[in-house]
Amino acid sequence: MKVFVTGGAGFIGSHTCVELLNAGYEVVIADNFSNSKPEAVENIQRITGKPVSFYQADMRDREAIRKIFAEHSIDVVIHFAGFKALLESVCKPLWYYENNLGGTFVLCQAMQEAGCKRIVFSSSATVYGMKNPVPFKEDMPTAASNPYGCTKVMIEQILTDLAATDPQWSVSLLRYFNPIGAHPSGLLGEYPNGNPSNLLPHISLVAAGLRPEVIVFGDDYDTPDGTGVRDYIHVADLARGHLFALKYVLEHSGVEAVNLGTGRGTSVLELLAAYSEACGKKIPYRIVPRRQGDIAVCYADTEKARCLFGWEAQRNISQMCADSWNFVKKRFVEGNIL
Ligand code: WQD
Repeated sequence: MKVFVTGGAGFIGSHTCVELLNAGYEVVIADNFSNSKPEAVENIQRITGKPVSFYQADMRDREAIRKIFAEHSIDVVIHFAGFKALLESVCKPLWYYENNLGGTFVLCQAMQEAGCKRIVFSSSATVYGMKNPVPFKEDMPTAASNPYGCTKVMIEQILTDLAATDPQWSVSLLRYFNPIGAHPSGLLGEYPNGNPSNLLPHISLVAAGLRPEVIVFGDDYDTPDGTGVRDYIHVADLARGHLFALKYVLEHSGVEAVNLGTGRGTSVLELLAAYSEACGKKIPYRIVPRRQGDIAVCYADTEKARCLFGWEAQRNISQMCADSWNFVKKRFVEGNIL
């Protein structure tokens, strides 16, 4: 069984490729390294001891993507490739729409031409927008409040409309909550490169001594300690969720949106405390006013993933922080891994 993983060198994509190879699937990866590193492809093979077929390609390159389907008999696609920095998308909306939607159009057309009609899509909890009550449930209306989130809502709609044309299509729309952590080997993780907008990369940079303090966006939310609450999920649990989704799309047809979260909320200050515990040092922080567009609380209703896939997250916040710190320490403190 051969799986085409777009963006397979990325944070979630690389961890998912490890799970796929360990489960006996053959893996084909396309990645343009716009938000990942070539070493991730080597480390996927190093961890599993199994080869992957790799293509350095932009998803908008029609000929390059067609070539992949010509050279491999692809049974199912997992589509990660896309820009994902929410704040950046507000500054560069056209870039986000062109990249995320354009790449998806090329992929879907190549799939249709090749007769491949099974796809797992990397969607996001951001599609629930700011008006739904928590815990977020898959049948709630979707309406994003930023261009990044809008690309996810639009791609969910594109895949739903495509599936409506042919009962052989099988589509799984996986709505991730907040993925953090790293592979226990320390060989795969989230590179805090550039100016990350997410919280965990900032915390890990401060823990590594590369930044002076964490900026906490607001402590006046209606939450136990006033800081934002999110559903953090270990990237290894998220990767494993893709295996269950893959099995489901191989055995069913139609479209299913499914939350991948833990169903538990953790505040910014609670995450800082857990990370301090993991790295053995205090993490300095400074409270500033709220970040525009943030909601107070976000966490998943996990019933559908449990009932449909038989999957639920297993790791807790301490394990997420310990694995994240192990990755960062090896790379940015001890420097014993490139
Ligand atoms: C988490 C909490 C911030 C940075 C986004 C996307 C979502 C997903 C994850 C891709 C919030 C606070 C943050 C900082 C802080 N991405 N924070 N200081 O915004 O929940 O979700 O990333 O799928 O789709 O929407 O994640 O990590 O940016 O913020 O205090 O420097 O940390 O206010 O409460 P978010 P985040």
